[in-house]
Amino acid sequence: MAHQRRSGQRLGHQRPFGLVTRGNTAPNRLRKTDTFLAVAYPELVRHMAGLYVDLGFGAYPITSVETLHRLRRLNPDLEVMGVEIDPERVARAAPFAEPGLSFRLGGFNLPLAAGERVSVIRAFNVLRQYREAAVEAALAELAAALTEGGLILEGTSDPLGRLLTFNLYEQRGAGLDRIALVLAPTLRSDFAPRQFQAVLPKNFIHHAVPGGLIDCFFAAWHAAWQHSRARSPEPRQIFAHSALRLADHSGYALDRRLALLRRGFLVLGPSWPESALEG
Ligand SMILES: C[S@@+](CC[C@H](N)C(=O)[O-])C[C@H]1O[C@@H](n2cnc3c(N)ncnc32)[C@H](O)[C@@H]1O
Repeated sequence: MAHQRRSGQRLGHQRPFGLVTRGNTAPNRLRKTDTFLAVAYPELVRHMAGLYVDLGFGAYPITSVETLHRLRRLNPDLEVMGVEIDPERVARAAPFAEPGLSFRLGGFNLPLAAGERVSVIRAFNVLRQYREAAVEAALAELAAALTEGGLILEGTSDPLGRLLTFNLYEQRGAGLDRIALVLAPTLRSDFAPRQFQAVLPKNFIHHAVPGGLIDCFFAAWHAAWQHSRARSPEPRQIFAHSALRLADHSGYALDRRLALLRRGFLVLGPSWPESALEG
């Protein structure tokens, strides 16, 4: 856990809320978050009333640039704003700015101009470097900027984006609801369900203890995956089949849409990891 130095920078009267942390990033690392939004929320992307914020873009803003270009295929008017708490990283990002893409210094209390609204916030590999106790306050700050129906994708990936996990939050009425946990491997290479335990989001990773609810979930998924693997050589089929088996045989509530499953998105309902006990 890195808490190297507090940002001493100020944005107008607002001090950015948060900590400068390691800036590791990589091309295509967050590609699956773009695919997820395009498949699961195409209408939100097409008619985005507010900004798309890439919070904590890191040492260089490749993820912000890629997201603009990918999601612009659905929405040519999309506006992406990369936000970083490290002023040097914001300065280094400036040459990457283009129409629809800007960069600002800021923290969880987003640096918005008067009247600006936010439809989607992606905070990836940011909270993993904080203490678990910081998560709630960070989310409350982010939620304050969201439009009704706006989303937060808060999660963790491995260094190259072969494994991603994220909490999906939606701004509804008076509050922010956690609506899903998404587990997404790339299906181009082989993977095993238990690999996700090392990249769970902050609110879950410290609770993945042997014999606990999270461990039991991965044991059940592993068994379903082994069963599916014995019946098909094709990674997409194995993934989709193992997910459906996990739901049908172990009682986990998940999104059964094949458009998601065949692209490698296991979308678990908000009662995870307890859901298997409820049925
Ligand atoms: C590991 S990098 C992640 C880069 C990119 N999001 C990715 O996943 O490839 C984390 C970045 O988040 C920044 N960061 C940490 N806390 C922040 C905050 N509260 N607001 C804005 N940026 C923050 C750090 O300075 C660091 O550059």
